[in-house]
Amino acid sequence: MLKPLQKPAPVVCAYNEWDPLEEVVVGVVDGACIPPWHVALKATMPQSQWQFFLDHGGEPFPEPMIAAAREDLERFVRLLEAEGVTVRRPEVVDYARSFKTPDWESASGLYSAMPRDILLVIGDEIIEAPTCWRSRYHEIDAYRPLLREYFQQGARWTAAPKPLLRDELYKADYEEPAGDEPLYVINEVEPTFDAADFVRCGRDLFVQKSHVTNDLGIAWLSRHLGSDYRIHVVPVHDKHPMHIDATMMPLAPGKLLINPERLTRIPAAFRSWDVRPAPAPSSRADSALCSSWVSMNVLSLDEKRVIVEPSETELIRFFKSWGFEPIPCSFRNFNLFGGSFHCATLDVRRRGELRSYF
Ligand code: NVA
Repeated sequence: MLKPLQKPAPVVCAYNEWDPLEEVVVGVVDGACIPPWHVALKATMPQSQWQFFLDHGGEPFPEPMIAAAREDLERFVRLLEAEGVTVRRPEVVDYARSFKTPDWESASGLYSAMPRDILLVIGDEIIEAPTCWRSRYHEIDAYRPLLREYFQQGARWTAAPKPLLRDELYKADYEEPAGDEPLYVINEVEPTFDAADFVRCGRDLFVQKSHVTNDLGIAWLSRHLGSDYRIHVVPVHDKHPMHIDATMMPLAPGKLLINPERLTRIPAAFRSWDVRPAPAPSSRADSALCSSWVSMNVLSLDEKRVIVEPSETELIRFFKSWGFEPIPCSFRNFNLFGGSFHCATLDVRRRGELRSYF
């Protein structure tokens, strides 16, 4: 008699931000370059940071900076492995090489440090995001060997339509709005989004519009995912919106951590959730590529354990009083590259199933 066919366990499978983590991609900083100056970059940072990029865009990041961040990453990887998580890495790429399309040229790439920005895992599908920074056009290449392997092991592998990123996509004369009305540096010429503008809570995904994610990008993902998922657009109060994971972090069923400066209107969906504001970051000094609120850019190993920067003592205390088990891991040197634990990772597999939490 024939044995019944057993379906192999999916290699790619994650529906939310908190199911027990089994496999993760952790970025690398080797080969990282300072992104060339462009209006899309200008829109995402305070004016105090512009000159650095105007002067050094296209150059490799200084080696001591890379070495220190590499050390942070290696410590983080050891911690994850000690917790039983399988860690995978992208290829090391020399981003100092220039490249061009028929329409534009970029003096360099950026890095392979933040897989969260460019890849989105929804269930057994891994989606390449249509990111709108020209310097990031080929960033996905560093992940191609991994993507091919996951595909061979049964994952669904999708790339959103590759955007053209012609001049017409960007508002060349973009200026930061004086008032509270959101204004974005990109328009709706073609769909673009960064994966890090979405957070996942099972059948419900939450997204912010930003300087990298437009309505068409959100519509593309929504139509692609179909009726099994609902996408909620979250209004945020942020002059430099780019990536939602320092604005709201769902940590467990019914527990949402928010940035009280940015999420001033809690989405109605969270009515029955315990929504708590994160304590202010330990230092309010924003770095060139991100704000000090990366303090709340934590990675959950499961519904209890969260990886946190040890200098965020208020946040650690707060997590403990909320029933979490914070695990400290020094990451300040890595933070200078524009993100923290959540940005530096892509959770490939979390043990759990598709559910509705609302
Ligand atoms: N761009 C946001 C999110 C970083 C993870 C910030 O700088 O706070």
